[in-house]
Amino acid sequence: MKTNLPQGNSNQNKYNLADYDQAYATFRWEMAEKDLGWEKGSPVNIAHSCIDRHVLEGKGDRVALISDDPAGIRTYSFREMQQLTNRFANALKRLGIRKGERVALLLPASPEFHISLLGTVKTGAIAVPLHSKYMSDALKDFLRDSEPSLVVTTAPLRQRIPEKEVPSIRGVIVVGKAGDENDWDRLVADSDDSQATEWMDREDPMLLLYTSGSTGNPKGVVHVHEGALQYFQTGRWVLDLKETDVYWCTADPGWVTGISYGIWAPWLNGVTNVVYNGPFDAEKWYGLLEKNRVTVWYTTPSYLRMLMSRGGNISRKFNFKALRKILSVGEPLNPIVNRWSLSTFNLGVYDSWWMTETGALMIANFSCLPVKPGSMGKPIPGIYAAIINDQGEELPPLEMGQLAIRAGWPAMMRGIWRDKEKYDEYFRIPPWYLTGDLAYRDKDGYFWFQGRIDDVIKFQSERVGPFEIESKLVEHPAVTEAGVIGKPHPLKGEIIKAFIVLESGYSWSDELNKDICEFIKTRLAPHLVPDEVQVCPGLPRTKSGKLMRRVLKSWELGLPVGDISTMD
Ligand code: WTA
Repeated sequence: MKTNLPQGNSNQNKYNLADYDQAYATFRWEMAEKDLGWEKGSPVNIAHSCIDRHVLEGKGDRVALISDDPAGIRTYSFREMQQLTNRFANALKRLGIRKGERVALLLPASPEFHISLLGTVKTGAIAVPLHSKYMSDALKDFLRDSEPSLVVTTAPLRQRIPEKEVPSIRGVIVVGKAGDENDWDRLVADSDDSQATEWMDREDPMLLLYTSGSTGNPKGVVHVHEGALQYFQTGRWVLDLKETDVYWCTADPGWVTGISYGIWAPWLNGVTNVVYNGPFDAEKWYGLLEKNRVTVWYTTPSYLRMLMSRGGNISRKFNFKALRKILSVGEPLNPIVNRWSLSTFNLGVYDSWWMTETGALMIANFSCLPVKPGSMGKPIPGIYAAIINDQGEELPPLEMGQLAIRAGWPAMMRGIWRDKEKYDEYFRIPPWYLTGDLAYRDKDGYFWFQGRIDDVIKFQSERVGPFEIESKLVEHPAVTEAGVIGKPHPLKGEIIKAFIVLESGYSWSDELNKDICEFIKTRLAPHLVPDEVQVCPGLPRTKSGKLMRRVLKSWELGLPVGDISTMD
């Protein structure tokens, strides 16, 4: 079924992308260079394109950022952002930061995060945003792997940084720490706002982001300045951003969405960006949309389902007249959410697909095309997506296989930090980048997500690796073996279910359950605490000892276990 979703009251029929087929046939990424003022062969800096460019074009007084958090509202123009990011960059240079060095950012969504990220990138250093949900042990792994020279954080979060155990760390800059020498405010105030941008090769790294897989600890995905072309162009085409827009992306800056579409895409397009630091709260969130007159809203199916579950009595109190476009990413968008959205906002939700590794949007629903509820949409012009078999051959429409993208697009990751083997695995069947997603394409060229090939879990739309939870669980004295799976959940997408084998001498009790959960909460991260823990006598393993999570999943869901000839 195809429908034309209502699109709100403004800019009707004036979409940035008016004719998808024509753009798909003719677009080349070089065409985006002109709009960013990039010249062939000349060095660039994505932070300059996000901020300084708008000031140079006479738009310095436009509002760049509205920070709306429990402490109040702070507003910044592009000129103020230019000054502050220069100040921060000059401060970093004074502290000896050079091109290619890493600066880790353990901060909540806040103006200080935006300024620190852009200031870092201006110096030519590589920013390493860390998810503030992670606790000390996990942070230690990320920090030891990325070897940052500096860490920027807040006073409460600083306690989680195992400075002494990470030899590369030369200093910690603390937000909200009145007056000390490493106080963020003082550092910025004592610095000058002269032009600080270092000019970089387009292929130079600017971001290192840790993300979970099904094996091993989270890996550092490397992104480069060249990605700006795609963040910009997808912001223009998929988010349909215009300079008059007020835009809010609800993602945490420790997740790639909070960077690519929380910072790069809106600011490359010169729009006013809303940032909110606080927990989910339906009333607060509706209030944010209304009060800031948000026009374009990028969120996740999980958040939309959470709003839906709070009922209409809350939403009816608010006015969403300014809103003209809602999009989601991260997991399948249930058609029921779209129906709820139509009745609540008089707007449908546009589903979109991409990954930390792809850096930017790859497949999406576009304003100018009919939407098929349940489908992720069509490839972005400039991107070639296909469904392939294990040999890398393209499959015809309606056949399920692995979703693959022809390698070589501007925002594509350029490496896995210190793990070339892992990086090469993604590209092992040329010319493809292998997504690990199962999908099919229909006869009209729309893609339909069917699931993951591996055991990666989607908890509230963010990626969770079973391995990181399992390896922490077995550190608990009572646990000898652990297997973790995602269990479908109507609100959260999936919840985390752990199967454990107890060490001899331990018996299962509520206290032990609590103790194990507390162990994960304090040693790993609160959001990775299993929702359910089940004790079993043994775990299904292959003859070579590899855990068979798919068998655990089948047991849990009461489904046929499939081929278990390799099981021990
Ligand atoms: C899943 C960064 C269904 C998919 C944005 C992908 C989706 C993984 C969708 C990437 C969607 C993302 N429908 N599944 N629209 N978008 N995914 O890197 O499995 O945290 O491979 O997301 O999320 O997760 P990541």
